[in-house]
Amino acid sequence: MNKPLPLERLLQSQGFGSRKAARALVQQARVAVNGVTACDPDARISPEGCVLTVDGADWPWRAQLYLALHKPAGVECSRSPQHHVSVLSLLPAHFIERGVQPVGRLDADTTGLLLLTDNGALNHTLASPRRHVPKTYVVTTKHAVDDALITALASGVLLHDETEPLAASDVRPLGSHTLEMTISQGKYHQVKRMVAAAGNRVEALHRIAMGAARLGEGVLADLPEGSWREIPEAQLRTWGWLGH
Ligand code: URA
Repeated sequence: MNKPLPLERLLQSQGFGSRKAARALVQQARVAVNGVTACDPDARISPEGCVLTVDGADWPWRAQLYLALHKPAGVECSRSPQHHVSVLSLLPAHFIERGVQPVGRLDADTTGLLLLTDNGALNHTLASPRRHVPKTYVVTTKHAVDDALITALASGVLLHDETEPLAASDVRPLGSHTLEMTISQGKYHQVKRMVAAAGNRVEALHRIAMGAARLGEGVLADLPEGSWREIPEAQLRTWGWLGH
């Protein structure tokens, strides 16, 4: 149970700026707590179950935040992007302020499922190569998909700078120039490099799943490109990512 906090601290914990900025929001009557406009930034509020309304938008209090984003092409997963805008620019500013970060990375031109959280420990665990979270991609290739490509990806290809061949844990053709492929390692540009090492080339890459989290299914149904959704902790427990 989280103990009651002064409203200004509660706002700050949810990413609504410094304590001074949070005080100002309350003083300007821009904040409601559980539907009632707040006037005292020092009022003690129980976080559990509390809904903060800021400038008319409701934000249930969260100890930690877990998000799924359908990443479009042309955004970078880095906080300090080099050539495109950051994926974080697709989120409300107070999520970034409270430290939400992508779990692992997708290339700027890769689309699909990206998880983000401000739970640093979980981020570290899920992104860790040792955890081997399977990641499934739909790959569009330059040259036709043939048996030799599928066999090479399934049996393993040796990448430059690697000592052991890397194999897809699952790979199947989907169409003349598309295949579905699951990897468990998470090396830099892994899918593109594996497909290149197998003699083809990735033209487009779309991640459809990470572990049991699959775009288009359950809580991830109807998540259009460019949009995000909060993932309830109960769902993360079902996926085996949070303890009970
Ligand atoms: N493999 C790649 O080559 N790129 C990605 O974005 C993800 C996996």
